[in-house]
Amino acid sequence: MTALPGGRASSAPLLGDDIEPTIFEMSVEGRHSYQLRTTDVPKAPLEELVPNEHLNHDVIALAQVSERDLVGHFTRLSHRQFAVDLGAYPLGSCTMKYNPKFCDAVAADPGLNSVHPGAPAPLVQGWLELLVDLEEKLCEITGMQAATLQPAAGAAGELTGLLLMRAYHEANNDPRRRVLIPDSAHGTNPASVTLGGYEVTTIPSGANGLVDLAALKAALGPDVAGIMLTNPNTVGLFEEEIEDIASAVHDVGGLLYYDGANLNAILGVVRPGDMGFDIVHMNLHKTFATPHGGGGPGAGPVAVSARLAEFLPGPRATRLSDGSYDWVTPARSIGRVHGWHGNAMVLARALAYIDVHGGDGLTRIAQHAVLNANWLRKRLSATLPAAYDYPCMHECVLTASPIKASYGVRALDVAKRLLEEGFHAPTVYFPLIVDEALMFEPTETESLQTLEALASALERIALLCANEPDVVRNAPQSTPVTRVDEARAARHLVTTEDAAGR
Ligand SMILES: Cc1ncc(COP(=O)(O)O)c(C=O)c1O
Repeated sequence: MTALPGGRASSAPLLGDDIEPTIFEMSVEGRHSYQLRTTDVPKAPLEELVPNEHLNHDVIALAQVSERDLVGHFTRLSHRQFAVDLGAYPLGSCTMKYNPKFCDAVAADPGLNSVHPGAPAPLVQGWLELLVDLEEKLCEITGMQAATLQPAAGAAGELTGLLLMRAYHEANNDPRRRVLIPDSAHGTNPASVTLGGYEVTTIPSGANGLVDLAALKAALGPDVAGIMLTNPNTVGLFEEEIEDIASAVHDVGGLLYYDGANLNAILGVVRPGDMGFDIVHMNLHKTFATPHGGGGPGAGPVAVSARLAEFLPGPRATRLSDGSYDWVTPARSIGRVHGWHGNAMVLARALAYIDVHGGDGLTRIAQHAVLNANWLRKRLSATLPAAYDYPCMHECVLTASPIKASYGVRALDVAKRLLEEGFHAPTVYFPLIVDEALMFEPTETESLQTLEALASALERIALLCANEPDVVRNAPQSTPVTRVDEARAARHLVTTEDAAGR
């Protein structure tokens, strides 16, 4: 038995203590999770079933624990995390909203998840119909003509969109060089532009947090392939001059790319296609069910206007004139951007979400997302003022700079203390154009009571900043992991335990 920190024996299950051994420290030789009934069926020598050269005779070093201890171990660990299922997770820009469980039930349907993606089209007509149905609904929601469901996430959708932009310009014998991006943009935008073979031209935001139209016009020229924008933008504001932006970019032959990561703010209210966008990616894992983050699967379908449809990745599920379905690759396709047909279960979840809510339900989602963010912005105006103090969309960017100036407490400290109040931290220091930014996205799923509790927690923290600033600066102290030195952890990365089990 290994001695554990705190002097416990590894085989003794821990009950709610703050130290949890690893599963290997809990291991006791010979212990197992279940017992099979004794049987009178004679044991067949393994070699008769599997050729010897394919057998691994090494003992595999797996932990040996009872099922009870195993379940207890992982359940305890799961409670040491903050999770969307536990409470509000107002991480701005990331849309960490609670996802309804019926979507998981759909994805768990064996009729959907036991189908091999390589099955011939005549055997999987139901799946193809589902994909066509989803594509049509996403096009209706965005005001676009056709879509690919292949990209695996938002950033993958961005790259796909830029490759489509390039294919379009090259097909017109008009290769261009630059893509414009506002300085408030999400980091994946410039990265995708570079990967797509273009150069980034940064457009400054005005004092109101919106794209500076004069600066945009000054940056335009015949070598501009397009612009990448999200609307609402990353400071949570609606780009009011979007129609002027669209005509200015179209006038020089450029295309408009819509980063749809913020789509839940405008669902069923306004459509990117109607604003003048030519290419739209959606984060299905943010807007339409499926938890976002944690490296799990996502889906970033890309929808386009008619003139770009022939370049879409293929093969695409397509309805034929006789009403049956098949895989069809568009005439001048840029090729595949994902193995098989994308992350199919995320697609199935998204369709379930859209169908259950219906058009009016989707509109209510956008309205509630915007209402919740504005409620929080208003309620906190005396505590953490908004960086741009006028109505926001689905998220609000607040600033801790007055608190920093008065008490030397930073946005990071406030966010860390919030963990001790039972809420996940907001996004901090993004967008980069806001000093001491705290970006809250309450999402449409939180109730008024939760918003009130969140606001009260932040008000308590603000009081603490004035009275006991060190408590906030050193927070969190009551969580399973206390304040860590993140810079040191990154520089001196330790990813294994040493022999003493530390
Ligand atoms: C505005 C914006 N664009 C793009 C992305 C990238 O999406 P993904 O994380 O799915 O790659 C995000 C992610 O949160 C985002 O907020």
